[in-house]
Amino acid sequence: PLRILLDVDTGVDDAAAILFALLSPDIKVEGITTGFGNIDMEQATENTLRVIQLANCGYQVPVAAGAAKPLKRDYKGAVPHIHGHNGIGDADIPRSPQKLLEESATDFIIRMASENPGELTLITVGRLTNLALALMKDPSVADKLRRVFVMGGTVFAPGNATPVSEANLHGDPEAAAVVFESNVPLTVVGLDVTQKTRLTRSHLDYLSQYASEERQPIVAFLKESMEVYFDFYRKSNNFLGECPMHDPLAVLVALNPSLVQVQSLPAVIDCGSGLTAGMIITDRRVKPNVGRAVEFCIEVDSEKAMQQLLSVYCKGEQ
Ligand code: BDR
Ligand code: CA
Repeated sequence: PLRILLDVDTGVDDAAAILFALLSPDIKVEGITTGFGNIDMEQATENTLRVIQLANCGYQVPVAAGAAKPLKRDYKGAVPHIHGHNGIGDADIPRSPQKLLEESATDFIIRMASENPGELTLITVGRLTNLALALMKDPSVADKLRRVFVMGGTVFAPGNATPVSEANLHGDPEAAAVVFESNVPLTVVGLDVTQKTRLTRSHLDYLSQYASEERQPIVAFLKESMEVYFDFYRKSNNFLGECPMHDPLAVLVALNPSLVQVQSLPAVIDCGSGLTAGMIITDRRVKPNVGRAVEFCIEVDSEKAMQQLLSVYCKGEQ
């Protein structure tokens, strides 16, 4: 299986990404790190532990708590109109007895990368703060991770936090800049592909109908947590009974890169204030001289991607 570290700000679609990763027979989650973003870091951590328990995946998943605020800016606060008051669409799932690791997310990422050089794929689906802190403390982390997949940013599609900037990068531009300026192998799974990979109400009905008995609590959670998310995307994007699967797609692409077309482009992050904060600037000139080469996902087979996500949520023990 693909051995991954997952960095989250659990969030409705983060929860769906965690469930996908834990339920996929082809992925082994070696640890989850948490941070602020959709909700504050404490609640994101609490949500993560609960979702892990709900997945009941049959192995222990260490969790390390991470950053509570951006590197150089203030945390702008939770977004209850998108992710509900508790971050997971106000779905009520049981508390978990699992204890957090004593080490920080930063130290955990550094230790795991050092103990498993070239082995681990890190997937970030929240702000890049934890990874940036790890790279700043131990730059050799960049050579020890197999690859980093970042759910964030956009090249050609419009932004979502601002007209040109996506929430995960806008939420901590300086951290994103540290990651983009490092030499870690980097694939960006941004809005160009995530915005068109959508879960629909009929997908959820399909899951209710076809998921195995033991998966029904998971399906019930997905249904309940997605309501507020559907509502937000209806109001903001005129999507009717559909929402983008941003974070699950990032995990899926790490597992199955053939679902996307990538383009390698030199890129930097804008660290100014205002609308361009966290914007990805790609240098597409004939003779580029700004930024280092990053792989950007620009096209996706969304139908196939959704089929693969649904089939993992559906199945029981195999
Ligand atoms: C990203 O922002 C968050 O709201 C989602 O969880 C996702 O990681 C999409 O821009
Ligand atoms: Ca997220």
